[in-house]
Amino acid sequence: MLKRITEDLKLPAPPFWLIAGLLILLSLHLVPLALIARARVSSSTKPRPHMILDMDKQAKLKAQRASSIFADGRAMRPPVPGTVAWGPGANTPDADHLAEDDHYFRGYKLVKSPAGGGTDIEYFQGFPDRVTVDEALLLRGQRKFNTYCFPCHGYGGQGDGPIHQRALKIGAGTTGWVPPSDLTDAERAARPEGHLFNSITNGIRNMAGYGRQIPVQDRWAIVAYLRALQLRQNAPPELAGEIQ
Ligand code: HEC
Repeated sequence: MLKRITEDLKLPAPPFWLIAGLLILLSLHLVPLALIARARVSSSTKPRPHMILDMDKQAKLKAQRASSIFADGRAMRPPVPGTVAWGPGANTPDADHLAEDDHYFRGYKLVKSPAGGGTDIEYFQGFPDRVTVDEALLLRGQRKFNTYCFPCHGYGGQGDGPIHQRALKIGAGTTGWVPPSDLTDAERAARPEGHLFNSITNGIRNMAGYGRQIPVQDRWAIVAYLRALQLRQNAPPELAGEIQ
């Protein structure tokens, strides 16, 4: 066929090196495809080839190593003078940085368990020193409780908030609905203050935590208000008439 065309056009037959070269190129172009096909089915522990390195690989000093760059021979630099430690209390207005006051920031402390190796949680009784329970704190606690807790626990804390009402209305009561606890019942009234504080901070069982939304001081205000709600519900007779 090729011969006939060249004869018809009276072109000279292509030289042998041209045909050979084309054939070689034709087979070589399959090599990258074969390599790609192999890469797709094989695995390797080496990092992928990086066409553009950006800043992935660069000279650096590792932590706790020596370096001749600095006069003290250490790769790590000491903190800038005046650096303040940062801890869980740092994002609260009343931060004291490392939040070392367990009572105030956590409501519990870890103690060595008497049984051996492990640690036990011990909840603090009472309010921390820096929390003064007065009318202002109770009113603050009431406002925060009515904002954050009322939807489930109800204004009186008895677990009858609108979310619970609605859940009962749509029949959730029969499908494993966990009702909000009655915060004024004997069990809750017997909880140490630190326990209530920790339930607000980290949640308890099915209830989510509010530590991220409610600052430390306001969480204590809510605990104080919970105590007021409990007292209101279980008021001793001698207080009759004093509590509205
Ligand atoms: C979205 C609903 C919801 C909100 C909002 C909510 N709770 Fe709860 N709370 C629950 C449920 C449900 C339980 C019971 C959880 C369980 O038993 O698994 C519970 C349990 C509790 C308990 C009982 C813990 C114990 O000692 O047994 C306390 C205390 C409590 N909540 C306080 C609060 C406070 C304070 C707020 C507001 C900062 C709040 N809750 C907001 C649903 C809620």
